[in-house]
Amino acid sequence: MLTTGPRGTKDILPDTSGHWQYVEKTIREVCRNFAYHEIRTPIFEHTELFLRGIGETTDIVEKEMYTFTDRGKRNITLRPENTASVVRSYLENKLYAGPQPTKLFYIGPMFRYDRPQAGRYRQFHQFGIEAIGAHGPTIDAEIISLAVELLNKLGLNELKLLINSVGCPECRPVYRTKLQEFFRDKVSHLCSDCQSRYDRNPMRILDCKNETCAEHSQGAPHMVDCLCSDCSNHFTGLKDLLTAAGISFVLNPRLVRGLDYYTKTAFEIQYSPLGAQSAVCGGGRYDGLIAECGGQPTPGIGFAIGIERVLLALEKQELLPFINNAIDVFVAPLGAETQAASFELLTELRHAGIAADMDFMNRSLKAQMKYANKYPAKFVALIGQDELAQNKVMLKNMETGSQNLIDRAELVHMIIEEMEK
Ligand code: HAM
Repeated sequence: MLTTGPRGTKDILPDTSGHWQYVEKTIREVCRNFAYHEIRTPIFEHTELFLRGIGETTDIVEKEMYTFTDRGKRNITLRPENTASVVRSYLENKLYAGPQPTKLFYIGPMFRYDRPQAGRYRQFHQFGIEAIGAHGPTIDAEIISLAVELLNKLGLNELKLLINSVGCPECRPVYRTKLQEFFRDKVSHLCSDCQSRYDRNPMRILDCKNETCAEHSQGAPHMVDCLCSDCSNHFTGLKDLLTAAGISFVLNPRLVRGLDYYTKTAFEIQYSPLGAQSAVCGGGRYDGLIAECGGQPTPGIGFAIGIERVLLALEKQELLPFINNAIDVFVAPLGAETQAASFELLTELRHAGIAADMDFMNRSLKAQMKYANKYPAKFVALIGQDELAQNKVMLKNMETGSQNLIDRAELVHMIIEEMEK
């Protein structure tokens, strides 16, 4: 146990953290370009927020939350997603008083007690967007284009954008009744989850992964055919905007999504080579959530992208960048007496903004050269007893192999000049 992390968690090691930094840097560039600003909310919240926000009949709330009582007897949950937290923060910090819409992004870990497999973890990371305050479909088109822009910028192709409208509290009850009528004589054939969904949330039967449920839901009525005029106009507006922007999409009337807060637009971006976990991005509109959390009725829309899944897709397409851990100078002390002078040089180099390291292991000259080569280091600054006595340093250019004895006082300046060449 002491040498194994909890199931569904992963260490991000130095040989891959550069890939994360690359994706995060690209996210920040795209968000800046689209004028979204970063928000960092706590990793845990009052459990009540997720019960109300995500919905009590969702898989996330019923089966997947990490919930505990803290020492002050508060009921706390590690965030399984971040939309509810962002809405809580928007209300608590009165972000509605600032320029509208409020355009936010976040990057961070989420926690779900899910069955771990490739692309599905118990601690995973999302990049998410929330745009709060705008009603019309233009903001829907903007956030979808942001997701597409990011994934394209990273070089991903073979992506499929699926869209649907899940209606609103006005038209959904009509659809719900139609769905229940459709499933009435099929209920006993559905999986036990869907049997309980039949009464509580029949739309979720449509995206059940169970084969029998999928078979029985063939021919089920579509929400898009039951939309009220407001939802229908919104959906038509979005399709027109996406078409005008050259963003191709597929209508998927069965796209329901696993969170209860969605209204109107729901969408997903899939990267099919990932197989079962092909959804790299999921999102939608949540026009009732802010009021549900105690605010004035305010519309909102957002999405989240699973960073692990994006990295898996980049790996599959061989798009991960080469991680450069090279340093400029490796300081090589030869013998215990040269340690202090070497450490002084190392400190001076670093103060001058030069990436430098030194030997801390009392290795032989040969082993140190091998180590410096492996880094790789552009220069090796050797300090042996002779160099120490003469106040000089033997500087070896690892690319050309040339070697020169340099005055210690000149060295840092000289390296800066060399680096600027
Ligand atoms: P979600 O569909 O639950 O939506 O998650 C969004 C994305 O997070 C998924 O498409 C997937 O890429 C990634 N993801 C989810 N669960 C896991 C997991 N166990 N392991 C790895 N990756 C995972 C939401 O979370 C909503 N809050 C999105 C949203 C924002 N809607 C409106 N605003």
